[in-house]
Amino acid sequence: MFGITVLVSGGGTNLQAIIDSIADGELKSAEVFIKKVISNNKDAYALERAKNAGIKGEVVSPKDYPDRGAFEHALKDAIDESAPDLIVLAGFLVVIPKEIVASYPQKIINIHPSLIPSFCGKGYYGLKVHEAALSRGVKVTGATVHFVDEGTDTGPIILQKAVNVEENDTPEILQQRVMKEAEHIILPHAIALLAK
Ligand code: GRF
Repeated sequence: MFGITVLVSGGGTNLQAIIDSIADGELKSAEVFIKKVISNNKDAYALERAKNAGIKGEVVSPKDYPDRGAFEHALKDAIDESAPDLIVLAGFLVVIPKEIVASYPQKIINIHPSLIPSFCGKGYYGLKVHEAALSRGVKVTGATVHFVDEGTDTGPIILQKAVNVEENDTPEILQQRVMKEAEHIILPHAIALLAK
């Protein structure tokens, strides 16, 4: 068995793709299971998805701690308690503290909604990534799964998948296509590769 801890901040569609693949897909045969879902946002719908799937959810919010250091310490404790074989950042919008990166070398992966090194790094998250792709006028974009290192979206690339940009795309339409045709495919696949 291969136990993963998934960190989320928002809607949780990537978490849902992992849950669905564990139920009846590639992750089922790879004997992957989710030990815990951790969110920095108590209102994240991803926590609802975890609950519906019978998975333990935990909120570690900066708002609940006196300073950044105390929050980061609590986040590390919450991860360590689950003793994961792999940590998966699935739409997690908090920069991972270097102490956590150092404690889990090559054991933290992230999904980014562009073909790194395009449209990534500080300030490029969520819809902002797709707004930048559309304003640059790229004809192809996609998603990347990479190992997390001390930087932002700078770790070694594991998988990428391209999608076409269509004539009348809005950032929202493009985000949905990148999620459905790229993110939700390569994130479970990357986890399966690492589990095997
Ligand atoms: C989306 O912008 C997605 O592209 C990125 O994180 C955001 C939320 O994803 N990976 P999710 O629906 O919470 O998985």
